[in-house]
Amino acid sequence: MPDANDIPGAAPLAPCIDGTGPVSVTDRITWIGALDPTLRSFDIILKTANGTSYNSYVVRGSKGVAVIDTVKEPFIADFLEKLEQVARYEEITTLVLNHLEPDHTGAVTALLERAPHLRIHVSTRGLLVLRALLKDDFDRFDVQAVSCGETVSLGDRSLRFLTTPYVHWPDTQCTYVEEEQVLFTCDFLGCHYCDGRLFNDAVGDFRFSFEYYFDHIMRPFRPYVIEALDKIEPLGARIIAPGHGPVLRSHPEAYIQHYRRLVTPRLASETGAEKTLLIFYVSAYGATEQMAQAICAGASDVADVRVSMFDLQGGEVLPFVNLIEEADGIAIGTPTINGDAVRTVWDLLSSLVDIDTKGKVGAAFGSFGWSGEAVSMVENRLQGLKMRVPEPGLRIKLHPRADEQNACRDFGKQLALHLTGRTTPREIDMSELFAK
Ligand code: FEO
Repeated sequence: MPDANDIPGAAPLAPCIDGTGPVSVTDRITWIGALDPTLRSFDIILKTANGTSYNSYVVRGSKGVAVIDTVKEPFIADFLEKLEQVARYEEITTLVLNHLEPDHTGAVTALLERAPHLRIHVSTRGLLVLRALLKDDFDRFDVQAVSCGETVSLGDRSLRFLTTPYVHWPDTQCTYVEEEQVLFTCDFLGCHYCDGRLFNDAVGDFRFSFEYYFDHIMRPFRPYVIEALDKIEPLGARIIAPGHGPVLRSHPEAYIQHYRRLVTPRLASETGAEKTLLIFYVSAYGATEQMAQAICAGASDVADVRVSMFDLQGGEVLPFVNLIEEADGIAIGTPTINGDAVRTVWDLLSSLVDIDTKGKVGAAFGSFGWSGEAVSMVENRLQGLKMRVPEPGLRIKLHPRADEQNACRDFGKQLALHLTGRTTPREIDMSELFAK
């Protein structure tokens, strides 16, 4: 475990820290957050084996006191109790909201009731959410939208705002205290890991939580994560203070580097200038599989496209998600069973929220016996994932005949051509539309 006692300006190690009182981060910065050790599921979608923390901080300057973010609503009393131990309400001049989700803004109203004179600083996009949060009370308060690089003085300490959108909401920003070299990042570089010892050099092993949090919160926003890293890395912060999980005072730069590794695609590109098309299918009686094979054959006729085919029943979702993250296009084949696509297909499609699929080519196909709704359902989902769906989904009743096999081959070829940009507009046969 790294030793923090030799870090200039860092609070000395305090093995008895248990989160029940304020904790010094530096001489001028104090943690006043809340611990939620028994939480086992966050926002429905995330598992939290170690619970989480809602980190809030006080920054003290010679001419003002700032509160950075607050806590989730059930922890208001805990937050106020800690705040009152380190500041009087009348001396609080500034409330910074780096992100407006309820786990960081649950105590805003309670704080405003006690310190209505303070000025709230949010990003331009955060302003819209704050208006919705405060509703009719919004106009009663002093709210200032800040842009990147803008500063607020607290006398001998100052706050600099860095706009870092989509890590992971449009409103997200970071705040830097230049004189302390402390960076507040809210969700960015955070994790759901509750440990009252608070600092990364004192808590238990949170590597799993850090990566799990990245995978489910930050991974879909890869380009924005890189942009944010590029913005914060040159600061050379000696402490990174996120909104969840340990305060990173020992080797914070290592966590920035770790994010850079995590943001790098899991699978190295093997295809160079080639485009990649992945065909996934599930088949009950072999008909959808025959379609998949014909689509694969048609797509493979197109130069510069690498085509791969996978039976979803034979694989795990996560490796497929990693493949799709790097692919240029996917085609998904499913039979219609009880008026729906099969569960394995939905499992894969629902897992795609963790990656950026915007602009990839998507397509759906499948065999059916009676109604055949599954194909259009999958197409809708692909469009919901912001994929391009340039070819109408291909449905074939029962097993494909020879001419229908040809239609599958043509479908595959067209998809591959869309990937290469060499496709030509098709003349639509009106009878095709009514055949659906
Ligand atoms: Fe921790 Fe996006 O809220």
